[in-house]
Amino acid sequence: MSTPSLLILPGDGIGPEVMDEVTKVIDWYGAKRDLPFDVSTDLVGGCAYDKHGTPLHDDTMAKAQEVDAVLLGAVGGPKYDDLDFSVKPERGLLRLRKEMDLFANLRPAQCFDALADFSSLKREVVAGLDIMIVRELTSGIYFGEPRGIFEENGERVGINTQRYTTSEIDRVARAAFELARRRSGKVCSMEKANVMESGILWREVVTKVHAESYADVELSHMYADAGAMQLCRNPKQFDVIVTDNLFGDILSDAAAMLTGSLGMLPSASLGAPMANGRPKALYEPVHGSAPDIAGQGKANPIACILSFAMALRYSFDQGDEATRLESAVEAVLAGGARTPDLMGPEGGTPLTTAQMGDAIIKALDASL
Ligand code: NAD
Ligand code: IPM
Ligand code: MN
Repeated sequence: MSTPSLLILPGDGIGPEVMDEVTKVIDWYGAKRDLPFDVSTDLVGGCAYDKHGTPLHDDTMAKAQEVDAVLLGAVGGPKYDDLDFSVKPERGLLRLRKEMDLFANLRPAQCFDALADFSSLKREVVAGLDIMIVRELTSGIYFGEPRGIFEENGERVGINTQRYTTSEIDRVARAAFELARRRSGKVCSMEKANVMESGILWREVVTKVHAESYADVELSHMYADAGAMQLCRNPKQFDVIVTDNLFGDILSDAAAMLTGSLGMLPSASLGAPMANGRPKALYEPVHGSAPDIAGQGKANPIACILSFAMALRYSFDQGDEATRLESAVEAVLAGGARTPDLMGPEGGTPLTTAQMGDAIIKALDASL
């Protein structure tokens, strides 16, 4: 088999800092596990705007379509706040998701035992937590038309449209049910069918897909606001949660705090299989460019490193190696290694971003 290709887009803020640590891990797999990757690097977000006047150059878009997987750091930052909406850094990321048709965004939230006391919730509420939020990523209010800012009756009006078709709901529901079959066999679908027609359709289609093809999986429905409450009250009642683009964005940030830090959460954005059988795929941490800590060596690289573990599992059929990497992260945390975001009130000396990366490499070495 030919060497798998990876396009790395570090992006802005802490993106390049955390991606440097992922690069160490990628190199380790080439050197120590005979798993080399053909890596190329390019620009996305504010840094692409600085160079090309656009947050995603067409050549970069074309490259992303060709490679086996894309790894992205983060985009955005205050420097770009006043840019025209059409060229904001975030538009680059949204274009990648849309044009690669990455409709299923897998956002696992796992609470490592070593961090259970660090969550803002009680240990017994989060210890052992392992849930998977499946967020629809290419439709809904992020992309629906009409949208824009218009003049109406002498005042301005901002418009976005929540829009879902049956096929868009059908395919993300299937992705969630398939995952649930390989986990504990439970899906909770979240929408607001009590107030939104798109929510009524969402519930109907999920129910139909379930009855037709996944009756072995347990399905429940919840209004997304109640779901947010339940996620904080008793998150371990869930296994797979499937929800729309906007609710998924918000619920996954909330889930991040169950695990201790936004710096811990990886994600995989998957599309339909390519000719080689691999899904179109982009892997990225859930967090953003963290302008408040950028350039200071304070960023936690674990979310980005665990995103590469997801790439090993979902794009490269290397589930055992993904588990090796996840176990290395767990071992490092169990040993007390902490970046500043993981420091509790008891204090101590935090590791820098690079020191955390080095500790994970050491744990990988120890796993051989
Ligand atoms: P953010 O995720 O960048 O930061 C929120 C808070 O979490 C900050 O206090 C930050 O320091 C902390 N944090 C985030 N990641 C961390 C890490 N790895 N280690 C330690 N601490 C971490 O969200 P924000 O401040 O709302 O957004 C900043 C910029 O990032 C905005 O331009 C936003 O649009 C963008 N953003 C990009 C992505 C992405 O590229 N996927 C995701 C979210 C936000
Ligand atoms: C995320 C981010 C993005 C989103 C932004 C940066 C476009 O918040 O990936 O969670 O809203 O999807
Ligand atoms: Mn978000």
